[in-house]
Amino acid sequence: QDDQFKKVISHAKEYGYVFQSSEIYDGLSAVYDYAQNGAELKKNIRNYWWTAMVQIHDNIVGIDSSIFMHPTTWKASGHVDAFNDPLIDNKDSKKRYRADVLIEDHCAKIEGKIDKEVSKAEKRFGDAFNKEEFITTNPRVVGYYENIKTILSRMGKSLENEDLADVKALIEELEIADPLTGSRNWTEVKQFNLMFGTKLGASAESAMDLYLRPETAQGIFVNFLNVQKTGRMKIPFGIAQTGKAFRNEIVARQFIFRMREFEQMEMQFFIKPGTQQKWFEHWKEERLKWHLSLGMGEENYRFHDHEKMAHYADAATDIEFKFPFGFKELEGIHSRTDFDLKQHEEFSGKKLQYFDHETKESYTPYVLETSIGLDRMFLAVFSNSLVEEELDNNTTRTVLKLPSVLAPVKAAIFPLVKKDGLPEIARQIQEDLKWDFNVVYDDKDAVGRRYRRQDANGTPFCITVDHDTLEDNTVTIRHRDTMEQTRVKIEDLSKIIKKEVDI
Ligand code: GAP
Repeated sequence: QDDQFKKVISHAKEYGYVFQSSEIYDGLSAVYDYAQNGAELKKNIRNYWWTAMVQIHDNIVGIDSSIFMHPTTWKASGHVDAFNDPLIDNKDSKKRYRADVLIEDHCAKIEGKIDKEVSKAEKRFGDAFNKEEFITTNPRVVGYYENIKTILSRMGKSLENEDLADVKALIEELEIADPLTGSRNWTEVKQFNLMFGTKLGASAESAMDLYLRPETAQGIFVNFLNVQKTGRMKIPFGIAQTGKAFRNEIVARQFIFRMREFEQMEMQFFIKPGTQQKWFEHWKEERLKWHLSLGMGEENYRFHDHEKMAHYADAATDIEFKFPFGFKELEGIHSRTDFDLKQHEEFSGKKLQYFDHETKESYTPYVLETSIGLDRMFLAVFSNSLVEEELDNNTTRTVLKLPSVLAPVKAAIFPLVKKDGLPEIARQIQEDLKWDFNVVYDDKDAVGRRYRRQDANGTPFCITVDHDTLEDNTVTIRHRDTMEQTRVKIEDLSKIIKKEVDI
């Protein structure tokens, strides 16, 4: 699992998908940049979502609200008071630590012990050593793993319940010491707010404290009435948007899974009070269908219904995906009641009600929310697509089997050799296709090497121009996944590609 995840991260870098941010300065923790292919893949995922949520629904419209919002927004939404993770203070050193990080570090030490046991056994058994078997049967190693599991689950539970006394007890019980002084004199566990603060305005006196938004949803709530009136929307209707969100995450170590700057794709569906159960079921089903339409394997998804709800919700479920490190939340579906609109009414003093022309009554709508992290979806798609394949001739190939509709480059065009007029024809094909698809031209190395390069890059089609092309205007088209090659007319290329890559 770990190895697969490492491969995913290094492949993402090597093939221009994801780079660490400001890498020349040794990077910034939990902040990443999307490179030339990554930006395309990300854009394609966003478009795939937008088409499914906005374009094909005549009762859902899209907006693009600002990252900066009036600071009262976050008081109303509950984020100022209840968007926290626990911090722990050391009385002696006067240092402040994040409780989860200390506990995770403790677990990392146990993992270090596991590694030692493994390398000792590796030396002892030599070629006969089977790592998988060893770590699942060796009593000491199995015990270590159990240990880690228990600690993490206790930590997770106490974080969920915000039971700070339990976090403190765990720190004491595990005899975790201050990493700098070694002292175990912890005094207090406090809540740490996850929002990033900044200032608006030039002079120190007049500057206003702002937050970078921790979710895009509030930009939709505060625009609810403007959109409803100007779009003459009738309930039920939805408002969708994609955009950046920021959270000062405490544990942010799983590549682009948990970032400090990330993108969300959210939709708020405004409904009549009392109909929330029906719409909750509806959107659960719709969103799962959307995921399954990408063909990444039904067995890799599951629902996780929440027993304990966030302060705003009366029902909530996660769509979990099987990442290289296990099943984890990919998308949340929340029945948010009228909590947000009511809060904004109270804090702004403005009515945010819907007037039903048929029944002649006004009411505050309930809201059903679907919320997915674009970066997390990127990781799901990318990690699921990366495979090493054994070929018949005992060699292997690395293929990025991205769903074609999402692949950054749809086709690569090769002249077989760099002479006899073949490059000119290949360039002409590129020129004709580039208006409809993202295509590339490549004439370096032998064709086999070029195929491998495109396989690893996730390009669904390779088109090769050879000497027969001069005779009959046909080319070879090779499919990434099957490696099947067929001869087709140049004029049919566009149709063939379109059939596979269109939404
Ligand atoms: N408006 C509701 C909301 O923001 P959430 O469960 O906190 O709910 C929704 O976040 C989705 O956003 C998550 O399912 C996840 O995909 C994504 N997400 C949340 N925090 C993230 C982070 N630090 N890095 C990447 N994605 C994140």
